[in-house]
Amino acid sequence: SKSERELDYQLMEDVARFYEFQLKQHTQKQKVIDYLKGRGLSGEVVKYWGIGYAPNEWDTVLKQFGETPARQSQLLALKLVNENDNKKRYDFFRDRLMFPIRDKRGRVVAFGGRVIDTDGPKYLNSPETRIFHKSNELYGLFQARKEHRSLGRLLVVEGYMDVVALSQYGIRYAVAALGTATTPEHIQTMFKSTHEVICCYDGDRAGREAAWRALESALAYLKDGLVMKFLFLPDGEDPDTMVRKEGKAQFEARLNDAVPLSQFFFSTMRDKHSIGNIEGKAALKAEAMPLINKIAGENQRDMMLAELNKLCGDGHRFTTELDIKKAQKY
Ligand code: UTP
Ligand code: MN
Ligand code: MN
Ligand code: MN
Ligand code: MN
Repeated sequence: SKSERELDYQLMEDVARFYEFQLKQHTQKQKVIDYLKGRGLSGEVVKYWGIGYAPNEWDTVLKQFGETPARQSQLLALKLVNENDNKKRYDFFRDRLMFPIRDKRGRVVAFGGRVIDTDGPKYLNSPETRIFHKSNELYGLFQARKEHRSLGRLLVVEGYMDVVALSQYGIRYAVAALGTATTPEHIQTMFKSTHEVICCYDGDRAGREAAWRALESALAYLKDGLVMKFLFLPDGEDPDTMVRKEGKAQFEARLNDAVPLSQFFFSTMRDKHSIGNIEGKAALKAEAMPLINKIAGENQRDMMLAELNKLCGDGHRFTTELDIKKAQKY
């Protein structure tokens, strides 16, 4: 017989298919289809990502899948159904556009749900469950790996819609962290599939801050030969809006111009500290040293240290023959 885990994956898959089916048959389907059209999504891409609809009722999934007490406990454990203080059970996702989240092996482990026209948080994601550990999963990684025999690069974006829109334009190597933070586990996972990771967060303050946090998380995984880059979009844009405005070629041109981590690192340091005086250089060095020391790759680490010394002035060491000769003249 099937293990509990296998039954969980089976149920999640069935529920994903059920949400998909609602796009074809539910009485409210037209407003959802209009929404998808309004966002420029093709029927093909909707199908490819298995996007569906959770109806605006309290018990659609509960009724369809909770025929026995055992099934209801399973629905509760997978957080597809909630229970209130009065022990009343109800569907977790209601009146939302549904994005099934697959793990690296393609099994549905969670859902992201976007509001269509009601109030409430824009996105609701499955809470952690016995089969879903948020910090390990990346939306789109299964599909990206399936599309490419070897992945030349991976693009990390903020949202489901970014991944889906990029794929519609033929950029099939984007993944999204579920929420905003890119965790060390995410970085580790991505570098198991590729040598180059490009972070492309939204062109707003939150996006820029997320980029710096991703840099900090990446240092310990940056072996020599691995590359992390950053693409900063104009304010107010995200990859979804950008690729729709510009198309594939221009978006990929941006990708090819992405800023390497080393450059982002030193430009941020220089923005934060003045190197016109010793105090500024000392503060810069105090902040930069512990970060540089985290870099896994010996060569990358050494070269970053050399760059830091160049920037802050070495003070007591002669670095080249020419320096020594110059000094001997005096
Ligand atoms: P954004 O606010 O940038 O949304 O959040 P988006 O992906 O561009 O969505 P659209 O284009 O308005 O549909 C980025 C990501 O942050 C998470 C989601 O994973 C979302 O895709 N998020 C955002 C939440 O989990 N909850 C929220 O309420 C908002
Ligand atoms: Mn966990
Ligand atoms: Mn945003
Ligand atoms: Mn966004
Ligand atoms: Mn968006």
